[in-house]
Amino acid sequence: QTPIIHSKARLREITAQWRGSGDAIALVPTMGALHEGHLALVRTARQRAARVIVSIFVNPAQFAPHEDFGRYPRTLEADAEKLSEEQVDLIYAPAAEEMYPAGYATRVVPDAGPALGLESDARPHFFGGVATVVSKLFLQVRPDLAVFGEKDWQQLQVVRQMVRDLDIDIDIVAGHTVREADGLALSSRNAYLSPEHRAAVPALHRALSEAASLIGGGAPMGATLVRARQAVERAGFSVDYLEGRHAESLTPIEGPHHGPVRLLVAARIGGTRLIDNVPVPSD
Ligand code: PAJ
Repeated sequence: QTPIIHSKARLREITAQWRGSGDAIALVPTMGALHEGHLALVRTARQRAARVIVSIFVNPAQFAPHEDFGRYPRTLEADAEKLSEEQVDLIYAPAAEEMYPAGYATRVVPDAGPALGLESDARPHFFGGVATVVSKLFLQVRPDLAVFGEKDWQQLQVVRQMVRDLDIDIDIVAGHTVREADGLALSSRNAYLSPEHRAAVPALHRALSEAASLIGGGAPMGATLVRARQAVERAGFSVDYLEGRHAESLTPIEGPHHGPVRLLVAARIGGTRLIDNVPVPSD
């Protein structure tokens, strides 16, 4: 059974011991409600480090007051069972007061680069909350590497930018997006979908991947993305954004471009907000 700890003091004792015996430590930060996407990240971590820590913390700082912080699924017992099966060494599940004690006053806020636009337009508080909690987790755990999913592509680029900017000596490793057979990216929020909406959502990934292969084959980006957006809307979504961006800097693409391109989408259906992204194939 994987031990669950709640305090950073205990975390420090355990990680100091591991470091002392020369064990590399990998961290997989999560908000719990774990599914196969998270477990794939755990397996990637397992392959790269002697010790794997999974943090489970529903981070209030990355939710706006009107968002789903209150109803975000919390399933610690089931999560712990899954992580035990993956031979995770430690679960770190701090309470909100451990992370943000009374009088807490400091935030890490990305103010340029990959945090601009896309998710930030709909959720301006979001990457400040993510960067703050991820830097705190990095300082608490001091892992050698940390694993993040491509599912949240913009978040991955924001974290990469942050470790460069703040000289944080932690390897950021990316894990592929795990999907249902019909293409829907696994997400803890998929649990909110009604059966009717669940039946409509494969259109999102289909439209995105079709657009990617068309653009990869030389179709013009602007017109292709307009048609993809229409297809997503016809399936019943309202689209927050559907854009092509430079894959790493996430700068908008204007005119002829060089280097890898990523298509990113966020769309809402029946009160549930889904995001997805795919690479544009080159050659
Ligand atoms: P959460 O949504 O729980 O996701 C934790 C990690 O799992 C993230 O790196 C995310 O990209 C990855 N992930 C989610 N669904 C995935 C899928 N279908 N395939 C592959 N990876 C997937 O992202 C967060 O939590 C938070 O913002 C966090 C980084 C923990 C900071 O609070």
